[in-house]
Amino acid sequence: MSKRFYPILSILLAIASSLPLAAQTKSVDTEGHKWWQHAVFYEIYPRSFADSNNDGIGDLKGITSKMAYLHDLGVDAIWISPCFPSPQVDFGYDVSDYENIDPMYGTLADFEGMVAEGKTHGVRIILDFVVNHSSDQHQWFVDSKSSRSAQHRDWYIWRDGKGPGQPPNNWISTFGGSAWKLDPATNQYYYHYFYAEQPDLNWRNPAVEKAMLDTTRWWYKRGVSGFRLDAVDTLFEDPRLPDNPVLPGTNKQGDPNTDEIHNKKLPEVHDVLKKLRKVADESDAVLIGETWTSNIDELKEYYGSHDNELQMPMDFMFTTVDKLSPPEFRRQIAQVDAAGGWPVFVISNHDKVRSYNRYGDGKNNDAIAKLMGAFYLTLRGTPIMYYGEELGMENNDPKRKEDVKDPIGRTGWPQEVGRDGERTPMQWNTDTNAGFSQKDPWLPVPPSSKSHNAATESKDPNSVLNMYKKVLALRHTNEALVEGSYTALNEDDTNVMSYLRSYKGKAVLVALNMSASPSKATFNLADKGFASANLKSLVATPQSSAKGMEVTLEPFGVFIAEVSK
Ligand code: GLC
Ligand code: CA
Repeated sequence: MSKRFYPILSILLAIASSLPLAAQTKSVDTEGHKWWQHAVFYEIYPRSFADSNNDGIGDLKGITSKMAYLHDLGVDAIWISPCFPSPQVDFGYDVSDYENIDPMYGTLADFEGMVAEGKTHGVRIILDFVVNHSSDQHQWFVDSKSSRSAQHRDWYIWRDGKGPGQPPNNWISTFGGSAWKLDPATNQYYYHYFYAEQPDLNWRNPAVEKAMLDTTRWWYKRGVSGFRLDAVDTLFEDPRLPDNPVLPGTNKQGDPNTDEIHNKKLPEVHDVLKKLRKVADESDAVLIGETWTSNIDELKEYYGSHDNELQMPMDFMFTTVDKLSPPEFRRQIAQVDAAGGWPVFVISNHDKVRSYNRYGDGKNNDAIAKLMGAFYLTLRGTPIMYYGEELGMENNDPKRKEDVKDPIGRTGWPQEVGRDGERTPMQWNTDTNAGFSQKDPWLPVPPSSKSHNAATESKDPNSVLNMYKKVLALRHTNEALVEGSYTALNEDDTNVMSYLRSYKGKAVLVALNMSASPSKATFNLADKGFASANLKSLVATPQSSAKGMEVTLEPFGVFIAEVSK
C-alpha cells in the first residue's frame, strides 16, 4: 500500500474503533477474539417469552416482536430452547422432526422473519440441538420400532432383556425408573436416559451421525449462528452394557443412586464434538455445550485439546454455589480462568431454580440480583443470561401436585416439584398475565410480576433491569471489560469480592459487597502498574463510593470504577 493512503486508513481506523464493540461483524478482532467472545447470550424458553396470537403459549412471532427490547438490554445472541415439532412430553426436548418448527410456535417462514428481524437489531439466533435422543414419535423411531429388521432399527439402542421381565442391566433413567423400556411387539428393550418418550439415538451408527451433522448444515444455511448442544454427556453407552455400581441411598425419584460410569461421559463423545465443530467452523458458528462438568479437567476436555471441540462448554459450577461466598467464587473463577479455553458463566437456566431465589436471602433479593448481575457480567468470558433474570423474576413453583406440568414434578412430588417454577411467562408489564398473553398462560405468573416487570422497572433508575442495562452497556464499550485479563484482589476478604480487569494499561476495578452489612475495602494497585491510582465510578449502587483507594459499600453494594493513573 502506498504511503499516501495511511492518513485515510488511520481516519477509518479511528472511526471503526469509536463504534460500539457490540457491533462486531468481523470474524476476529485485534485480540484474535471471535464474535461470540464479545457477545452476551440470552436463553429464551419459547413457550414463555411472548405470545403473539394469545393462545397462552409463547411463539416465534412473539420473540420477533421483542428484538428491540433485547437489543436495548444489550443482548447479542439468543439461544432458543427447542422450538421444533414435538409431542411436548419434555416441552420440546422430545423432537419429532429436527428440520421444522412446531406449529404451536409458528412456521419456517416465521423463523426466517425472526432471523431477519434479529439481524436488523444485531441479535443472532442460536438453536437448541437435542443430540442424545429424539421423540418416540419421530419417524426414525416409529420405523425403528416397527420390526427387528426395520431400516432404522439400529438408529436406536435395542437389546434383549436379561431374562423374562428383566431389563438388560441396572441403568436408571435420570427422570425415574429403569432406563429400558420393553417393546412387546418386537420383544426387545430400548434405552432412554430421559423419559421413555425420549429414546436415545445410537451414535455408533454412522447413518445417525450423518443425519445429525446434516441437520446442523440445514440450519446454518437458514441463518443460525450456532447451537446449544443438549445433554452431550450421555451420547454414548458402553455396548457391553455392564451394570453401574450401586451407591448408598435413593434419589428424588426414589430410585437407587448409581455411579453412571458406563453410560455417561464416554470418550467417544469427544469424537462427535470434533465433527460437529468442523461443520460449525465452516459457518463461523459457535457450539455451546450442556456439559455437567464436576471438575476443571473435565471442562478442559470439552474445549478439545486443540480448541477443536466446544467453544463454549457451559460451566455450571457457579450454579452449584447457592450462597454469596467470595472465597468459593474466587476459587472457581481462578480454575476456569486457568483452564485454557474461553470461560462461560451461567447463573440460571430452565432446569435450575432461578438465581433470584437461589442467591436471595428472602429480604434483600433485589439488591442481591443486582449484585449478581454486576458480578458475572463483568468477568472475563461470555455470560449466558436466562430470560427474566434481568427483572429479578422469581421462581413460581406449583403449590399442588395437580398443577404440576413438568412430569418429573408429578412423579417426584413433593421431594421434586419439577421445573415449572423457573419457566413461567416473561413479565412484560402490569397488564393481565404480566402482558405475556391475554389468555391464561400455560403456567401462571406470580403476584410479584406487578412490581417486577420490564415496563415498571424501565422507569425506575434503581431497578434490577436498569442495573443490568448499565452493566451490559459498559461491558460492550469498555475495552478492559471486553478484552482484559482478570486478577483477583484482596483475596483474604470474605465479604467483598473484588477484581481488576486490565487491558493495555487501562483497568476497571469491580468491588461487590456480598454481605448484609456495610463494608469497606482498600486497594493497593502499585504492583499492578498503578502506583498512585484514582477510582472513577462507572456504575455503582446509590450508597457506594470511593475516596482515594478506599471503597465504601452499602449492604450488597456494587462499585465498578475506572482506574486512572
Ligand atoms: C437437558 C435439558 C432439559 C431436558 C433434558 C432432556 O438437560 O436442559 O430441560 O429435560 O436435557 O432433553
Ligand atoms: Ca402463541
